[in-house]
Amino acid sequence: MTGGGDCPGLNAAIRAIIRRGLREPGMELVGIKRGWKGLVDGEIMPLNRDSASGLLIRGGTILGSTPSDLFKGDVELEKLINGYRKLGLDALIIIGGNSTMSVAARMTKGGLNVIGIPKTIDNDLTGTERSIGFSTALFVAVEAIDRVHTTAESHHRVMIVEVMGRNAGWIAAMSGLAGGADLILVPEHPFDIEEVCDLIRKRHLIRNFTIIVVAEGAHERGGEVAVNSEEKDAFGYSTIGGVGNWLKKEIKNRLGFDTRTIVLGHTQRGGAPTVEDRILATRFGVQAVELALEGTYGVMVGLEDDGIVTVPLNSVKDRKVDEYWIKTAEIFFG
Ligand code: F6P
Repeated sequence: MTGGGDCPGLNAAIRAIIRRGLREPGMELVGIKRGWKGLVDGEIMPLNRDSASGLLIRGGTILGSTPSDLFKGDVELEKLINGYRKLGLDALIIIGGNSTMSVAARMTKGGLNVIGIPKTIDNDLTGTERSIGFSTALFVAVEAIDRVHTTAESHHRVMIVEVMGRNAGWIAAMSGLAGGADLILVPEHPFDIEEVCDLIRKRHLIRNFTIIVVAEGAHERGGEVAVNSEEKDAFGYSTIGGVGNWLKKEIKNRLGFDTRTIVLGHTQRGGAPTVEDRILATRFGVQAVELALEGTYGVMVGLEDDGIVTVPLNSVKDRKVDEYWIKTAEIFFG
């Protein structure tokens, strides 16, 4: 089952689960369609050698998915437990991010045999150094930063690249470092617009362009996260986003420089997975089946020092960009 937002590498993990599972005589594999909703409604599809074909390089999830936050309540948990029991499952492998893992942990507490595989382009789960999708998102973001350099230099512009990262700025921090950004703004380190403009002003005395990478969840010190009031999420709340355009207006008004913003949005979550994501997803998928075979449940697989580890599902938390990365990135600001 896949939970939460899609990302490249989900299908590669599904393929690995199928291929490893089919090597086990007597093992029957089914995929839960539409994520949590499908588990509640008993919507499944058989998984066999044919269904695994072509999945390694295919983005998204052939199974479909639902936001995990919708299933955090006690009533929903009860429905999930009933759904699992009705299907007569022996074990359930759930591929998802932070919210998905917290629901999976509650299912474990409710007596179900659950194994988690971490995916999120935000790479913000503890218990693993990498989650499926992060490498591909970084690849997309760095390519975009590289490309906007041309316009920035030719037209002496301030170019702002807004990347995903609601609560954690890993995509911004890593793509900004790899792409040579002159300023990186992350949610973990609120900014002061005066200081931002001061940095640009000083930089333009020696260089006539600036590249800023900003995470969608970055905000001013003491300020609010920018929201997009026109778009609503599954709960009817405004979706996050808009900090890039807000920054553009402020910089234009305060400094008068030609300033442009590009918002990468879901392009970071689309298309074929990178080599790193394909291999990670494959290793995670194989290990999840090994765990099911030995009867180890209530755990999430993870990557540590290039080895596959397991951590208890109920220990998985949000992982923030820490001081080391902020200090390292700051060396290249301005
Ligand atoms: O959690 C992963 C993430 O990519 C966030 O960085 C982003 O805010 C969110 O998903 C967007 O999700 P949706 O597709 O629901 O707008």
